[in-house]
Amino acid sequence: MSSTAGQVIKCKAAVAWEPGKPLVIEEVEVAPPQKMEVRLKILFTSLCHTDVYFWEAKAQDSVFPRILGHEAAGIVESVGEGVTELVPGDHVLPVFTGECRQCAHCKSEESNMCSLLRINTERGVMINDEKTRFSINGKPIYHFVGTSTFSEYTVVHVGCVAKINPLAPLDKVCVLSCGISTGLGATLNVAKPTKGSSVAVFGLGAVGLGAVEGARLAGASRIIGVDLNSARFEEAKKFGVTEFVNPKDYNKPVQEVIAEMTDGGVDRSIECTGNINAMISAFECVHDGWGIAVLVGVPHKDAVFKTHPMNFLNERTLKGTFFGNYKPRSDLPSVVEMYMKKELELEKFITHEVPFAEINKAFELMLKGEGLRCIIRME
Ligand SMILES: NC(=O)c1ccc[n+]([C@@H]2O[C@H](COP(=O)([O-])OP(=O)(O)OC[C@H]3O[C@@H](n4cnc5c(N)ncnc54)[C@H](O)[C@@H]3O)[C@@H](O)[C@H]2O)c1
Ligand SMILES: [Zn+2]
Ligand SMILES: [Zn+2]
Repeated sequence: MSSTAGQVIKCKAAVAWEPGKPLVIEEVEVAPPQKMEVRLKILFTSLCHTDVYFWEAKAQDSVFPRILGHEAAGIVESVGEGVTELVPGDHVLPVFTGECRQCAHCKSEESNMCSLLRINTERGVMINDEKTRFSINGKPIYHFVGTSTFSEYTVVHVGCVAKINPLAPLDKVCVLSCGISTGLGATLNVAKPTKGSSVAVFGLGAVGLGAVEGARLAGASRIIGVDLNSARFEEAKKFGVTEFVNPKDYNKPVQEVIAEMTDGGVDRSIECTGNINAMISAFECVHDGWGIAVLVGVPHKDAVFKTHPMNFLNERTLKGTFFGNYKPRSDLPSVVEMYMKKELELEKFITHEVPFAEINKAFELMLKGEGLRCIIRME
């Protein structure tokens, strides 16, 4: 038992008080974990575009004041009632979507959409008692996607915690807790390209390049990277992207450009932008007869996907995925092992690092479209 178990912990957290305003480092009180909850000491966290969307709250509903953050790695500080599989000191990755192991989804081989713990961006409280575990002088501060990792300590449902190899470097594998696993799984678990096939990836941020990494591992022979920001192309070369398309360079739809490049369309496409037009292009650029498109980006809340039904009749398939279809507790430890065995390369995704006090710099970098992942060091 740690000396802090059962006590309120006072620590630093980056609080989003209002949409679009810089986060403020505050001293917060973190209550002990309750039934089926775990309190984690976060050591490293990074910024994913989903945090930025809910911080900007332009296109999404969001709850304030809130502690954002969902891509992270840490150590179990204490566990609540009923938690048997984790003990203080375990090395873990918190995940924005969970695995209760009891619902129909968790029992299905095909789904990771746990009924109890699936992603919920509007909920700012814990499911056990519908209350927050964070406060400042008694005023509640809300949670984000059940993780709130922009805090030195956080409380998470045990079903949203993956226990990993204690030898894995947490400053690297933290990026597996969302973006990279999402992109990787979208390719390996959902699009499933065969060796020698062609794959288009829309959006060359960390999620898209995670999808590219999956295409490389699957042995795709052509990997076409699509992005509106040509500055992304230089970085993407390190990931094995073979051709680049900037939709701005053409005066026809990008799906037509790709169809011409590939004699009718790519075998697989993976959309990692969140832009509705890119989603439609990603679907319409797959080959008829066998092409499969996978949507990963989080769309604007009012977005509507429009395409002609003939595109489906012509035997194209459209799919979507959260967290690359990985079941966090069951599957994430083996993704960490892929990195430990040097099959998966993570270093190339990490382009910046800042101390926790400078967390707003990570937001500035993402807004400018600079770099891929910025690691935020808590200590
Ligand atoms: N489904 C999931 O489980 C899941 C998990 C994590 C992230 N996401 C989502 O994935 C997306 C990517 O996240 P990220 O962290 O890599 O973001 P990012 O901002 O680093 O990368 C997005 C890239 O898309 C490009 N882009 C934007 N609009 C485009 C368009 N119309 N055509 C071509 N390129 C375009 C941008 O220039 C940028 O390079 C976001 O929407 C994020 O919310 C989804
Ligand atoms: Zn994310
Ligand atoms: Zn479940």
